[in-house]
Amino acid sequence: MKLALVPLLATLAAAAPSAPGWRFDLKAETSGIVALEAIVVSPTLVLFFDRASNDPLQINNHSAWGALWNLESSTVQPLDVFTNSFCGSGALISNGSMVSVGGDPDGFPGNPAIHPGNQAIRVFEPCESPTGEGCTLFDNPDALHLLVKRWYTTAIRIFDGSLLIIGGIHESTPFYNTDPALSYEFFPRKEDTPRPSEFLNRSLPANLFPRAFALPDGKVFIVANNQSIIYDIEANTERILPDIPNNVRVTNPIDGSAILLPLSPPDFIPEVLVCGGTQTDTIDPLLLSSQTPATTQCSRIRLDEAGIAKGWEVEHMLEPRIMPELVHLPNGQVLIANGARSGFAAIASVSEPVGNSNADHAVLTPSLYTPTAPLGRRISNADMPSSGIARVYHSSINLTPQGNFLIAGSNPNMNTTVGPGIKFPSEFRVQTLDPPFMFVDRPKIGATPKKLAFNKKVTVPISLPLALTRPGAKVQVSLMDLGFSTHAFHSSARLVFMDATISADRKSLTFTTPPNGRVFPPGPATVFLTVDDVTSEGAWVMMGSGNSPPTLE
Ligand SMILES: *[C@@H]1O[C@H](CO)[C@@H](O)[C@H](O)[C@H]1NC(C)=O
Ligand SMILES: *[C@@H]1O[C@H](CO)[C@@H](O)[C@H](O)[C@H]1NC(C)=O
Ligand SMILES: *[C@@H]1O[C@H](CO)[C@@H](O)[C@H](O)[C@H]1NC(C)=O
Ligand SMILES: *[C@@H]1O[C@H](CO)[C@@H](O)[C@H](O)[C@H]1NC(C)=O
Ligand SMILES: *[C@@H]1O[C@H](CO)[C@@H](O)[C@H](O)[C@H]1NC(C)=O
Repeated sequence: MKLALVPLLATLAAAAPSAPGWRFDLKAETSGIVALEAIVVSPTLVLFFDRASNDPLQINNHSAWGALWNLESSTVQPLDVFTNSFCGSGALISNGSMVSVGGDPDGFPGNPAIHPGNQAIRVFEPCESPTGEGCTLFDNPDALHLLVKRWYTTAIRIFDGSLLIIGGIHESTPFYNTDPALSYEFFPRKEDTPRPSEFLNRSLPANLFPRAFALPDGKVFIVANNQSIIYDIEANTERILPDIPNNVRVTNPIDGSAILLPLSPPDFIPEVLVCGGTQTDTIDPLLLSSQTPATTQCSRIRLDEAGIAKGWEVEHMLEPRIMPELVHLPNGQVLIANGARSGFAAIASVSEPVGNSNADHAVLTPSLYTPTAPLGRRISNADMPSSGIARVYHSSINLTPQGNFLIAGSNPNMNTTVGPGIKFPSEFRVQTLDPPFMFVDRPKIGATPKKLAFNKKVTVPISLPLALTRPGAKVQVSLMDLGFSTHAFHSSARLVFMDATISADRKSLTFTTPPNGRVFPPGPATVFLTVDDVTSEGAWVMMGSGNSPPTLE
């Protein structure tokens, strides 16, 4: 009897239903290049950029610094880039092209194929091939270039489908912004001279990679250092908003992250969440160290008159984080991932560097932020595993059209292996972080029109697993820009909820697209259906006409 009991119990234990949790999955040993910039450019492809250096992936007899990651096969292929894309920014624009701007003025010993990137505009036209075959990057500074040199700049897609390009530095910097580009410009150009910005001057010196969001009235919210504004593009005016509280600074090299919380009909009132960075009143690298604690602080502001008058509301992450990443989930939650408990962004500039890393004590366990929960109860890491891989300076994370997160990069050190002093080598391993819904039957969205007009009702076929057909199930339909990930910021990332109903026979879904391009700037988007927190794969669509910018439809 006793002997028989053991296998019986073991069988019972194995058969016991266990709630599926979040999982990290190692997809590949190498991304070919360090994926320090990453943007989803089609349902199956993610474009990576690195600094031009000694990456293992080769093209035309030299190390590549651009690549296409295939989400279906978890393989990488090189992309020929002419200019140095290191620490640039980018976005998808209204006609579906990916435009990357700015970068490094310098080359790299032993890689002769490099041209200065700080005035570059690189265009990757919409790629129809699922494997990226035949898709190339247009990168010719003689034909196309920025008005001024910009490195560590930010680019976001705005209401007319063009790019607003914000700030940056002209040339090399020892640690913070010593040679600032104190201006805005646009791609395509709206005028022949850059627009000066008092805000960019006032927010010096820790104001690289400003965190900026296109608001649903067409204006732009920007936070840099500990200051914030609303920039009115059409009137060319800056309205000063309250500082981030408690001397917390949130832009490079003191990288916190920021996100525009989901926008919901009918009013689409914007709220911004800023998390991490460091509480400091000095930027002197000699007084800062890899061991300087980061902040746990998150600050949230509602951007209507009442919210602005109230100012920032403070809450706290479960741990301090420098260089955290804030990424939308299609159900409106926000993933907080990556980063470190202490130190700073940038390389080999503060005291006690770890090898070349200005940061130490990588945070390996993500958290979830639930915007609709009460203050103090919004952040949890229950059921979250440890990634096992440090993702510190120069890492990236993207929500994929499949609904999971692609995580890659990290290289405060050029060394590719751990060794004496090299605790954080160049990281080529690619992981996904898979939400629990990846392991159950999911809703499916059927054939969806390739183009969606604004302010229209759209009906698409769906199928729902039986488990999701309970009366009163929570149905959410989100229209998302998956963003351009670099330096702890996802520029242009956006989630707009759409009013939606499922037909009585549960075979079709009808949703209402956003009223105009101010609510969702015209351009590529992904539609997800979530029922009771189980999310479908996304449908890749063109929101708006698909016209080249500027376009109001
Ligand atoms: C690469 O190098 C090899 C050997 O030196 C040479 O034969 C070949 O033409 C080169 N290819 C390109 C694309 O430059
Ligand atoms: C930036 O601000 C400083 C200090 O207020 C001022 O002296 C300087 O003229 C400003 N620079 C620009 C370009 O506005
Ligand atoms: C923001 O930073 C400035 C410059 O260091 C400082 O004077 C100001 O007090 C800070 N604001 C807050 C709210 O901490
Ligand atoms: C790191 O790389 C540098 C430059 O190639 C080399 O000199 C150094 O020995 C490497 N360190 C380790 C621990 O491998
Ligand atoms: C999109 O517009 C940009 C700016 O005019 C242009 O460079 C690019 O070629 C266009 N792409 C397509 C697919 O029309």
